[in-house]
Order: sequence, then C-alpha cells, then structure tokens
Amino acid sequence: MQKIRLGRTGLEVSVAGLGCGGHSRLGLATGHDESHAVRVVETALDLGIDFIDTARAYRTESVVGKAISGRRDRVVISTKVSPARGGQLLSVEGLRESLEKSLARLGTDYVDIFHLHGVRASSYEHCKRELVPELLRLREAGKIRFLGITEQFGGDTGHEMFSRALPDDLFDVIMVGFNLLNPSARQRVFPLTRERDVGTLIMFAVRRALSQPNVLVEILEQLVAAGKLRAAAIDSSDPLGFLTAHPNVESVVQAAYRFCRHEPGAHVVLTGTGSVAHLESNVRAITAPPLPQELSERLRDLFGSIDSISAN
Ligand SMILES: NC(=O)c1ccc[n+]([C@@H]2O[C@H](COP(=O)([O-])OP(=O)(O)OC[C@H]3O[C@@H](n4cnc5c(N)ncnc54)[C@H](OP(=O)(O)O)[C@@H]3O)[C@@H](O)[C@H]2O)c1
Repeated sequence: MQKIRLGRTGLEVSVAGLGCGGHSRLGLATGHDESHAVRVVETALDLGIDFIDTARAYRTESVVGKAISGRRDRVVISTKVSPARGGQLLSVEGLRESLEKSLARLGTDYVDIFHLHGVRASSYEHCKRELVPELLRLREAGKIRFLGITEQFGGDTGHEMFSRALPDDLFDVIMVGFNLLNPSARQRVFPLTRERDVGTLIMFAVRRALSQPNVLVEILEQLVAAGKLRAAAIDSSDPLGFLTAHPNVESVVQAAYRFCRHEPGAHVVLTGTGSVAHLESNVRAITAPPLPQELSERLRDLFGSIDSISAN
C-alpha cells in the first residue's frame, strides 16, 4: 500500500481510506448484516488500508470498533459529530456527549481526527465561536488528536463553507467533495490547503453518478439543459465512453478514483462500499498510475468549470 503524509498532522497513512458512510455504509444500507460489514473493514485492513472514516450519523462506529479490536494502534480513526440537527445548533455539552458515545462504540479512548460533520456556511460561525474552543480542550485532554471539518457537498457544490473556514486555519484536516464531474476544489480549496499544509480527505470520488451509468446520463442531461455542457461535446448515451475506450483504463469507476488520487493537494481518497470485491478493485484503482494525459485534458475541457453538481 502506498503511504502519504496527511498534511501537518504528520500522520503517514494509506492513500486509500475506507469510508463507512455514503450510500453503502459498509453494506448495512444495502441489505447486509453486521458480520458482513465487519468483514469489509477487516478486508480493508488486510489490504493495507489504515485510514478509516466513520461518523456518529452513519451508525457504523460499533462495526469499526469490532473490526479494529486488538489493533487500534495500527489504525487512524476519523469520526464526526454534526454541528446542527433538526434546526438546532449543537451545544458544547452535546459535543462532549457525542464524542464520549463515539469513543464507547469504537472501543477506544481517543479519536485521531474528530470532525465537525457536513458543516454549512450558515453554521460555520457557531462552529468557530462555540465548538472549536471545546474541541481544543478535548485535544488537551487527550481525547482527540486533530481537529477536522467536512462540508455538505450535496448542497454546497461550490465550497462556500470552505471559502469562509479555510482562511481562519482552525482545522488540521478537511474532508472535501471532489471528482471528475466537479473538480472545483482545484481552484477553491487546494491552493489554501496546500499553502497551510492542511490534510485533505477526498469524498464523492465516485458516488452514484460515476458508478451507475443511468444516473450519469441523467446528471449530464441536466448540465446540458442548464447550458453548462455542450450537447455536441459528449455522446449522450455513453458520455464517458472515451475513458473506457482507452486501453489503459478498466472502467469509469477505476478512472474516477485515479483522477482523484493524483490531484495535487489530495491526500487520502476515500472509497465507500459494501462489497469486498469492489473494495479490492478500488484499492488497485487508487494505487494505479495517473490517467493518460490526453484523458485528463479532455476531462478538464468538459468539466473543468463545473461547480453545480456533486455526483450524488
Ligand atoms: N459530509 C461528509 O462528511 C460526508 C459525505 C459523504 C461521504 N462522506 C465520507 O466519504 C466516504 C466516501 O463516500 P462514498 O461512500 O459516497 O464513496 P464513493 O467511493 O464515492 O462511492 C461509493 C458508491 O460507489 C459504489 N461503488 C464503489 N466501488 C464500486 C465498484 N468498484 N463498482 C461499482 N460500484 C462501486 C458503491 O456501491 P457498492 O456498495 O455496491 O460498492 C457506493 O454506492 C463515505 O463513506 C463517508 O465516509 C462524508
């Protein structure tokens, strides 16, 4: 497994990270039981993945806890708490309580990276004034090692929250939406994270649009209708067929992970799946060489200025 330094945390972690949320939630969201989900995490560890991302909201923390039992010190754990739920902003007490519950479910006494989860631009100020001081106290107390923040990419496809948060430089690690259909973090996020040496976790590398051909067609039709993509520039029935026509590319999913992995400023590429076979091929994709230059250039011509979709 290839390793990478996660920005100023100094942690050396696998370039592929296991995402325990998304549409699959380790298979729990697609009809599998807990023992299957534990096996997905164990397979990830066996493949050399040592970065695992979960969250209170995913209800996969206890699965992770079971899978890492006895090897906690070999894994970097990232988990999260939402700063706003049901229209209510999270209190400092609520934050502490959520972390304690996460620690109990994970079966550990510290979290490596504790994120504020899915932060919208409108709740960032609350995070900064109320929650960050408490996170710093929790770090002092040894309960968390590094502070993280993730965006709500589905509703913030142009990274408005990060445009506000990154100049404050309060977080050691961020999780950002980035993929070949919306690479807008290239201009709006990575220049600052690189300057400040912030660790970056990539989410939405594939999601539904890049793993389900019918969803891709639908989303690209919407881009054409919105005037953001020229109809003549793509084959409407197989819009990314030019990728798989190349002898060096196995599938759209493979191309999508490779695209993210080699972006300057991207550190860990998260892969979310409930399938052991998908996980194995995704690790091969994330550790494969960059896409051929002519394909990267064509992707840039087509989607380089798109900032209105998440590929959800
Ligand atoms: N705001 C936030 O903080 C936030 C939001 C979203 C996600 N996240 C984190 O980011 C992680 C990654 O996001 P994601 O889970 O959406 O991951 P992703 O890797 O972008 O996409 C996963 C989707 O692609 C499918 N897939 C994966 N490999 C495949 C393959 N080889 N062939 C066909 N289909 C494949 C999966 O279904 P199968 O199960 O069938 O493989 C799943 O539906 C999440 O798990 C979570 O940890 C954070």
